[in-house]
Amino acid sequence: MPPDGPARHLLSISDIAPDLPGLLDRALAMKRARVRGDLSATRPGNRVALIFEKPSTRTRTSFEVAVADLGGHPIYYSTKDMQLGRGETVADTARVMSRYVDAIVYRAFKHTDEVDLAAHASVPVINALDDREHPCQIVADLLTLQERWPKGFAGRRLAYIGDGNNVLHSLLLGAAAVGLSLVAATPPKYRPDPTIVGAATALGARTGATVSLTESPAEAAKGADALYTDVWVSMGDEAEAEARMRAFQGFQINAALLAAAKPDAWVLHDLPAHRGLEITDEVMDGPRAAVWDQAENRLHAQKAILEAFLPSVPRGARRRTGRAPKR
Ligand code: CP
Ligand code: NVA
Repeated sequence: MPPDGPARHLLSISDIAPDLPGLLDRALAMKRARVRGDLSATRPGNRVALIFEKPSTRTRTSFEVAVADLGGHPIYYSTKDMQLGRGETVADTARVMSRYVDAIVYRAFKHTDEVDLAAHASVPVINALDDREHPCQIVADLLTLQERWPKGFAGRRLAYIGDGNNVLHSLLLGAAAVGLSLVAATPPKYRPDPTIVGAATALGARTGATVSLTESPAEAAKGADALYTDVWVSMGDEAEAEARMRAFQGFQINAALLAAAKPDAWVLHDLPAHRGLEITDEVMDGPRAAVWDQAENRLHAQKAILEAFLPSVPRGARRRTGRAPKR
């Protein structure tokens, strides 16, 4: 039976908005500890299922390593390995998995499936990307900026150039939650969801962050403290590739656009990058790119997130003994 009442889920970065400063500090502490050889094994024995409907390099690897570092055991499935891929429902999958594992990390095509899994799971569900949000990515992104801006996010402005997609949605909400102002430049057809822009604006009103939209990459980049881009064709949008290639002309982060930002501006990309499309080799491989640290920070961010969502004593241990196992 589910032991502790309803589980807390991470489906949107708004679900952890108040926790972000603490999570970022914890991730940074774990990053420093790891350099000293301390893996922060604070969640021993936890089993975590990773269900991925789409490919992944960073998210899968960083979650698997994060669970292992914390002392737990990750179990990875692509949907073609599961009955989910043969028509078993998301709800039934949630009910069954909840009897085995302590949390489910889920990369889904549809946000509605993410919500459905969470609604029927008695363990935490963590969104590893869907068509609406990519919350864990943004924890790593904010960590990357916090490391570079020790005085904090106040007074800083991040310019996002590109598609109004899942990454921008979580970035809008995450940046607003920590007081980082954001201006997003997108083609008119590819603006972010207005309900998310509204929610980010409301969050920003409490933290002092502003949120604005433009169709001009040059206007967004002008005087920015950091530039951020993502792919023009997200997983699931492949049928629109040709139209998107046309619409995003002029939305590339290149040396000219970077020159419009502050001289010490950083460049972020969640990766994978399509070099020569949304970003040039020159910028990706140049001195202002923070992209490799950003990718590494997925690991440290995942650890802080998992630590916050996993029980200190695994459910199975509690179910068998009714108390914490003897150490
Ligand atoms: N940034 C990111 O989520 O990359 P993957 O698709 O490789 O996980
Ligand atoms: N927006 C991209 C992010 C990839 C990590 C996608 O959904 O494919």
